[in-house]
Amino acid sequence: MISKSIAERMDKGSWIRKMFEEGGRLKALYGAENVFDFSLGNPDLEPPVEVLNAIRELAADPTPGLHGYMSNAGYLSTRQAVAGLVSRRSGLDVPASAVCMTVGAGGALNVALKAILDPGDEVIILAPYFFEYTSYTGNHNGVPVIVSCDRETLLPDFDAIRRAITPRTKALILNSPNNPSGVIYPAESLIQLDALLKEAPRTIYVLSDEPYNELVFDNQAVPDTMAHISNAIICTSWSKSLSLAGDRIGYLAVSPRCEDFDRLIDAVPFCNRTLGFVNAPAFFQRVVEKAIHARVDIKKYEERRDLLLRVLRDAGFEVNCPAGGIYLFPRSPIEDDVAFAQACAKHNVTLVPGTGFGFPGYVRLCFATSRETILGSARAFRIIGREFGLN
Ligand SMILES: Cc1ncc(COP(=O)(O)O)c(C=O)c1O
Repeated sequence: MISKSIAERMDKGSWIRKMFEEGGRLKALYGAENVFDFSLGNPDLEPPVEVLNAIRELAADPTPGLHGYMSNAGYLSTRQAVAGLVSRRSGLDVPASAVCMTVGAGGALNVALKAILDPGDEVIILAPYFFEYTSYTGNHNGVPVIVSCDRETLLPDFDAIRRAITPRTKALILNSPNNPSGVIYPAESLIQLDALLKEAPRTIYVLSDEPYNELVFDNQAVPDTMAHISNAIICTSWSKSLSLAGDRIGYLAVSPRCEDFDRLIDAVPFCNRTLGFVNAPAFFQRVVEKAIHARVDIKKYEERRDLLLRVLRDAGFEVNCPAGGIYLFPRSPIEDDVAFAQACAKHNVTLVPGTGFGFPGYVRLCFATSRETILGSARAFRIIGREFGLN
């Protein structure tokens, strides 16, 4: 028999998966070209040429021992390259010893939580949020505490965060650019958050989940979390910025200003090993080291964002232009976002209700999909808009 807690979590399920499976069912019934699937956040651009060249070059390297274990934190040369990147961004002197290569951002978050949580410790999660955060927290016997962002600006609500802090609060997970809202938290928000957390009865670590850090549009910049927040632990990956989601490569970087820095940087590789990750994939550590300054062609995502924005606005939807990420997050025209998502599926359009991100009243659409899908959906969205009195 499987564990009660896992059975419970599986029952709650992921709305992303449910809607993706609904898309698959509709495609089997009506043909893929007649279904407009905006459910799953799977980057659909190919990795950049620097990555493909690095893969070819490294695959031909005859040096013996390249496929063996290495230090649990990863190759020193890769960690030095990452430390250089993080130091430049933050303006701090981040040593290679503060960097641990991980199995994606998901691996980094699990390692960080494992390293800092005692049973019953609370983790503040700002909604809307990536749904796995609650499971990741539960994996390490933590208690997720969901705090909604402001319903209009989708920025952190500092009064609500203040009210949520207790003597058991040990961490807060921050995700900017945000999945699903596409909002980038401005520097003032980070500064205010740092000040607020410093009032807490004990140290609260900020786990900064930043896989969309490089996917920002209109030449905007993402204020650096480590630069503004003292107890920051960066948990991120190249899943989106290099389209390497399936290759599971990311990193964790501990700010040199973190409380208990020396113990923390020893605990992190220990947790990487004992969680069974052991180390991040060897081959892709070498690939990202070679392609550390590359990224996918953002212009292509920007074009699709603009195209889908136009389709939705023409159909009468109220939707903000996302600053980063690969999602649009319009308001649901009815309060019940789950019912709205189900109504869309009747027109062969699959999207994810905001409820799946702890933020009802909105829906999420991933625009990392083909132009044909986006353009093809226009008619269905006009009909849906009419059905809900939007046009
Ligand atoms: C906000 C957020 N965090 C973490 C992840 C997981 O990233 P990775 O594939 O690098 O584990 C995702 C994946 O979609 C995400 O959207």
